Amino acid sequence: MALLLCFVLLCGVADVTRGLSITSPDQSIEKAKGETAYLPCKFTLDTVDDGPLDIEWLLSPSDNQKVDQVIILYSGDKIYDNYYPDLKGRVHFTNSDVQSGDASINVTNLQLSDIGTYQCKVKKAPGVANKKILLTVLVKPSGTRCFVDGSEEIGNDFKLKCEPKEGSLPLRYEWQKLSDSQKMPTPWLAEMTSPVISVKNASSEYSGTYSCTVQNRVGSDQCMLRLDVVPPSNRAGTIAGAIIGTLLALVFIGAILFCCHRKRREEKYEKEVHHDIREDVPPPKSRTSTARSYIGSNHSSLGSMSPSNMEGYSKTQYNQVPSEDFERAPQSPTLAPAKFKYTYQTDGITVV
Ligand SMILES: *[C@@H]1O[C@H](CO)[C@@H](O)[C@H](O)[C@H]1NC(C)=O
Ligand SMILES: *[C@@H]1O[C@H](CO)[C@@H](O)[C@H](O)[C@H]1NC(C)=O
Repeated sequence: MALLLCFVLLCGVADVTRGLSITSPDQSIEKAKGETAYLPCKFTLDTVDDGPLDIEWLLSPSDNQKVDQVIILYSGDKIYDNYYPDLKGRVHFTNSDVQSGDASINVTNLQLSDIGTYQCKVKKAPGVANKKILLTVLVKPSGTRCFVDGSEEIGNDFKLKCEPKEGSLPLRYEWQKLSDSQKMPTPWLAEMTSPVISVKNASSEYSGTYSCTVQNRVGSDQCMLRLDVVPPSNRAGTIAGAIIGTLLALVFIGAILFCCHRKRREEKYEKEVHHDIREDVPPPKSRTSTARSYIGSNHSSLGSMSPSNMEGYSKTQYNQVPSEDFERAPQSPTLAPAKFKYTYQTDGITVV
């Protein structure tokens, strides 16, 4: 037994001293899709190795259907790299002087199809050596979406979900609460590292902002979620409110249309009154309008703006402002801003 061990050791030592050898260790490399993989293959020569230098890189794709492929070759001082269409333009020797003992290559823009065992073979007769590197390409998690599956109401059951669009397994998940005390609700703790949190009997304290981080060996991604746990009635109330609001708006618009229509018909009978008052009449000077707007504001509601009570104003409208009106106006508590005054007055006159 001891003798055998001794023999193996001696062989090992003998191997190193026998000439050509590859010094880079065997290894496996893991990279993200799109990145560059550096596959090292450094070698040393011996004086006895006096043949021509030949370097060959082979790929055994992980897909067993495919046979070993030559991907790049150095022979007779020339580089040949147009063998394997899948790697076209993506394999290069990293050292421009391969003769110096560096046959390492870079594989750029890694694809999932690049997964496999790469073999570096160096020949300089009588020396030969080769070495294998296992390359794994992983996809970083990305396009992760956080969402609530179910309705976020007090007392309800629903799920919080965290779903990356892509990402190589194994994936690790971690939920965190970002708002308030940043403490995850206690019943959720068991599922903090799972892609789905099952919420039972929701309470309003669960409301807040949460994040989910998805990670694998080559990268991570994150999404956020805003949770609002509200009483069921609130939700119904909001919807009902929106509907009622819309209906009220429609009724209001209808009422305005109806009024305008009616007033227009009444205009026929009051042509003489309105003959000199049209929309194209220039706005009165600010002082005048100040006085007028005060009067107008007493009749701002549609109901009181009947032709009979507007008639009096219309007749005296722009001709002259009674001086008492002007004196009185500044004390008025109901004065509107200048812009509004003009608008109002124009409406008050032309709508009639
Ligand atoms: C090979 O790839 C590595 C990254 O993996 C990079 O640092 C290095 O510069 C690349 N070498 C060449 C010659 O492209
Ligand atoms: C749900 O939670 C409330 C307190 O938030 C509790 O009173 C009630 O018993 C719970 N219901 C169930 C079915 O667990």
